[in-house]
Amino acid sequence: MKTLLVYYTLLWPFVGSSANLQNTTHDGQNQEESSVASGRLPPSLEPLHYTLHLQPFLTGNLSIHGSLHIHFRVLHVTDKVVLNMADIITNNNTVKVTRKEEGVGAEVVRQTYNPLLQLYTAHLNTHLSPNTTWSLSMDFQGFLNDKLVGFYRSTYTDDQGSTRVVAGTQFSPSDARRAFPCFDEPALKATFDIHLARPQHLTSLSNMPLLHSTSIKDQPGWVLDTFATTLPMSTYLVGFLVCDYSHQTVTASNSTHNHTLIKVWTRAEALNQTSLATRLTPSLLSFLERYFELFYPLPKLDVATMSDFKFGAMENWGLILYKESRLLHDPKKSSAKSKLRTGTIIAHELAHQWFGNLVTPAWWSELWLKEGFATYMGFVALNDTESTWETESTWEVMEQFLTLELHPALALDSLLSSHPINVEVTNPDDVSQMFDTISYKKGSSIIRMMQNFLTEKTFRKGLKNYLNTLKYKSATQEDLWKHLTDAAREDGVMGVEMSVKEVMDTWTLQMGYPVISVFRNGSTATLTQNWFTLDDEVKKLNMTEEGQTWWIPISYTTQTQLNFSQTHPQRWMSPATHTIQMTGLPNENQWIVVNVQQTGFYRVNYDANNWDLLRTQLESSHTTIHSTNRAQILNDAFSLARAGLLNYTTALGLTTYMVREEGLVPWNAVLPNLRYLLDMFGRSSSFGALRDYVRQLVVQMYDSVGFIDDLTSPLVTQLKRVVAVDQACSLAHPPCVHEASAVFEAWIADPHNTSIVTGNTAKSVLCTGLSAGVEGEWDSAWQRYRNSNVATEKVIILNSLGCTKVVWLLARYLEMAFTPDSGVRKQDASTVFTSVARNPIGRDLAWNFVQEKWTHILQYLGPGSSHLSRIVKAATKTFNTPLLFKELERFQSQHTTTGHLGSATRAVQQALESTRLNVKWMRHNYHTIVDWLAGHGFTSTIN
Ligand SMILES: *[C@@H]1O[C@H](CO)[C@@H](O)[C@H](O)[C@H]1NC(C)=O
Ligand SMILES: *[C@@H]1O[C@H](CO)[C@@H](O)[C@H](O)[C@H]1NC(C)=O
Ligand SMILES: *[C@@H]1O[C@H](CO)[C@@H](O)[C@H](O)[C@H]1NC(C)=O
Ligand SMILES: *[C@@H]1O[C@H](CO)[C@@H](O)[C@H](O)[C@H]1NC(C)=O
Ligand SMILES: *[C@@H]1O[C@H](CO)[C@@H](O)[C@H](O)[C@H]1NC(C)=O
Ligand SMILES: [Zn+2]
Repeated sequence: MKTLLVYYTLLWPFVGSSANLQNTTHDGQNQEESSVASGRLPPSLEPLHYTLHLQPFLTGNLSIHGSLHIHFRVLHVTDKVVLNMADIITNNNTVKVTRKEEGVGAEVVRQTYNPLLQLYTAHLNTHLSPNTTWSLSMDFQGFLNDKLVGFYRSTYTDDQGSTRVVAGTQFSPSDARRAFPCFDEPALKATFDIHLARPQHLTSLSNMPLLHSTSIKDQPGWVLDTFATTLPMSTYLVGFLVCDYSHQTVTASNSTHNHTLIKVWTRAEALNQTSLATRLTPSLLSFLERYFELFYPLPKLDVATMSDFKFGAMENWGLILYKESRLLHDPKKSSAKSKLRTGTIIAHELAHQWFGNLVTPAWWSELWLKEGFATYMGFVALNDTESTWETESTWEVMEQFLTLELHPALALDSLLSSHPINVEVTNPDDVSQMFDTISYKKGSSIIRMMQNFLTEKTFRKGLKNYLNTLKYKSATQEDLWKHLTDAAREDGVMGVEMSVKEVMDTWTLQMGYPVISVFRNGSTATLTQNWFTLDDEVKKLNMTEEGQTWWIPISYTTQTQLNFSQTHPQRWMSPATHTIQMTGLPNENQWIVVNVQQTGFYRVNYDANNWDLLRTQLESSHTTIHSTNRAQILNDAFSLARAGLLNYTTALGLTTYMVREEGLVPWNAVLPNLRYLLDMFGRSSSFGALRDYVRQLVVQMYDSVGFIDDLTSPLVTQLKRVVAVDQACSLAHPPCVHEASAVFEAWIADPHNTSIVTGNTAKSVLCTGLSAGVEGEWDSAWQRYRNSNVATEKVIILNSLGCTKVVWLLARYLEMAFTPDSGVRKQDASTVFTSVARNPIGRDLAWNFVQEKWTHILQYLGPGSSHLSRIVKAATKTFNTPLLFKELERFQSQHTTTGHLGSATRAVQQALESTRLNVKWMRHNYHTIVDWLAGHGFTSTIN
């Protein structure tokens, strides 16, 4: 582990910068100073209760008038009160520190502010003794910003064309301090009395139900709303909304949920798109209550949309906010894909009401404790809930977990630039970077692994105890391990020599994951574990001979057993054993599949004979192998090939059966890999051969699901249609292009008929039409974007506008993405950029734009914007030549010397890494693949 630490300090800057700040000292004063130096609050005080008044001015100067009263307890003697604060002006004369019990005050002799660490300090003339309670009160002034953090403003256009302003919050992870000074750390829970002033024609919402509204003296037209006292909670979960929205109430009479008043809020024009949310929210909430045997503890739950939002959604306790396109659903215009996304995000946010809100990670380094669980439990809840609807056949939610969460996590975690799930972080920028694929997707994937090795019953028992013991408190992963180990011991599902902690520490404290190589000899198999990385340079850097190892649950089935439901491990591989032997297997002419349903977070490689047996099985009768393991085999094979551990001929050989593959999950597992090949071949003479090969694989599925959208067909069929039509049209399958062009023409010809294009095929229709079209078509599509009332439709149009082949239209579109009032929202800048960069005609234009206009982009979006890294990623995705590598290097050094890469610093580093790997990939694999294609009758040669 030491070698690993050395290694990732190079790559993951904040590991190194913060690790040495944890100097343990028992002297209170030093402790105070050293934690403050790291940006953490001193441990001397703990908040008990906040009383907060806020008056946001949605028009005029956009200021927020605030007053605050914090009741706190002294834990260690101190002569100062330190709070987190940002973008707030304190009214210094009003600051008072008083001791309630005795009516005495402490004099505030000085007030200081450290903008870098975002810390406000009131220095006192006396020392506060331990175990006494005090209050600090102050008036202050804030600002309703437009940066989508803190208490901020967002706008939308109503059906009369007027602009409406909404004030809402995004406090997670570290921005409650922008709305009011506070102890802004997740473990510092307190209760809150919230009072919001609003103009009388608007509505205000917060975490708890409204108690009463009173008009404000001397301020005609203003009303003060008072909300019920909250339960003990973290600051990042506090939320407010001041808006002119309409709402839909979920009534107890037709809901499975009858003790929480649920309302869905959005702008009046979009209220008819809330039916999916009103149907899903109560059933998912009921499921989670039953699963954990713990009620949702609040009397109400408000759910609302924001037109401008930083994340997909935010789980504020009792007031969940969503980006509009993630919550609202129009059955005709939203695609099946966005329906699934809405289902998973609602389930995720509801699962947070337990994981995160009730029991909160003690610090952001344990973020996965809430994000991993919310993601995994969201899938479990959605899987149960959708199957109870009579009208819906299964959504195959648990199978789709593989391609939505597990495969992307495995892909990222095989890179040099990955990091462990649990890392030390202190300052807000570092904390923000924790909200990534590793916390969410790897986090949820290792939880799924754990559920399978513990069994459902034991897993659930452990979680129930964990939640019940720690409710209204904070937790670390140690707490979780303890409750799960206790449950495992009780149920006897894990050997006494093992503990959940011992196993799981190898997955949360180390980055990466293993590949298991299986070599068979008669009825014996030898299994070896090694660190899987895309690049073998990593292994050279890794200084120990053998590298890191894991506790690995081994499940398998064979051609004779065919037991694909046995996901409980038959064997364990310990970190001390690089190699184990398994005996008693069928002979070598029968295949073996290791990692049943891909429940373990690892890849599997086989000897040539077993790969060949698997290929033969897929070709003769692919459904003999469970669809999740077909997905696994395909995804593993291509990843192993990309890492140089398997020949591309073997990986490609496994795809020939796919002309008969009708499973959604196997297709979604292989397509990103074929897309990678197509991207690498994009500017080479053999592109045509590869395209023809992939296209003929897709045609049968295309024919079976058809181009014509049937919105009454099961969700999975619709999802397959999205995949098949998207592939067929983008790979220029003539019948698909023909159908899409005809629908596009009808759509252009009749701007008032909104039922011509349906959600599932919209992307293909628009992209096909626009790529053949000129200025007139582009401008019409843009008008449709402007006039659409459906956020998911707007996203599809924005994504398609980059499909045109007219270079100057692409250039204009790029400029619009970074121009105020062009009609493209700031939150959509990277969507527009990506749609241009993905177009082979637009790629060079996009890259030139980045090189020439970087300073402007940075200024327009802000150096901390998460769009910057997405832009760099999109521009460089297909780079695979030494020349482009040099250009990228020049770009990096040019802006590094001026310190102006902003939050794209790591993305540029990653782009260099992947370009270097792509160059190498071309050298090693291009000709092999060309030869394989030719051997199967696909060439680009013209006769
Ligand atoms: C931590 O403490 C040790 C000894 O107590 C001291 O030598 C070292 O300089 C301290 N490091 C920091 C970063 O304060
Ligand atoms: C008022 O308080 C702020 C900290 O909030 C401090 O920076 C500033 O110096 C104080 N002003 C005076 C006049 O004390
Ligand atoms: C702190 O105060 C409470 C009540 O005021 C008392 O019960 C408790 O014993 C005190 N604890 C310490 C450590 O003095
Ligand atoms: C709930 O029931 C009421 C009548 O009891 C009905 O008007 C309403 O449409 C139902 N809502 C849903 C979402 O089913
Ligand atoms: C809610 O529904 C459950 C089961 O349908 C029922 O037992 C319970 O009494 C109901 N509670 C209320 C407050 O209506
Ligand atoms: Zn979340």
